[in-house]
Amino acid sequence: MSKILGVGIDIVKISRFDRLLNSKNVNGSSFVLRLATRLLNEKHEYGRFLKLRESRNIGNEAKYLAGAWATKEALFKCLDPEDQKAFEFRQWYRFYDERGKPHVQCDSYNKDNEQFHLSISHDEDHLIAYVLREETK
Ligand SMILES: CC(C)(COP(=O)(O)OP(=O)(O)OC[C@H]1O[C@@H](n2cnc3c(N)ncnc32)[C@H](O)[C@@H]1OP(=O)(O)O)[C@@H](O)C(=O)NCCC(=O)NCCS
Repeated sequence: MSKILGVGIDIVKISRFDRLLNSKNVNGSSFVLRLATRLLNEKHEYGRFLKLRESRNIGNEAKYLAGAWATKEALFKCLDPEDQKAFEFRQWYRFYDERGKPHVQCDSYNKDNEQFHLSISHDEDHLIAYVLREETK
């Protein structure tokens, strides 16, 4: 019998990330790359973002960052207070299964009786992420 342990939701404007991506480098170091390093998981997300950056499609880059941001904010909201204290954006990562469904995971969150469910939606400038935290046994 499963039990819902928490839910979290976040909404973002993709245009805010578009503006960041168009902003100039500050002190010789790109603000965008510093943001991406803090936000994205090094092993599972950062490389994908760099690939999008190489293709110079700012719309896709913005959507990728907005999706990661909203997912992780939603994720934060469904955690217990002690896990919120230890929370770091870059420890968590999104991935997509063969049917295109998004998932969110953290390799160092070692409660193996818990599962996270992620749903994302966008309409023009708005992107919304919803996370449900479930106890599985
Ligand atoms: C608390 C936090 C999730 C709020 O997110 P936000 O984008 O500023 O604001 P949102 O509109 O998405 O969410 C606000 C709602 O979150 C809820 N909320 C506040 N603290 C919360 C917490 N600790 N856990 C779950 N939900 C919380 C409240 O319902 C609040 O709305 P209300 O005050 O009207 O009831 C966010 O500020 C935060 O601390 N995130 C942690 C992750 C992190 O490190 N972020 C980096 C920020 S630079």
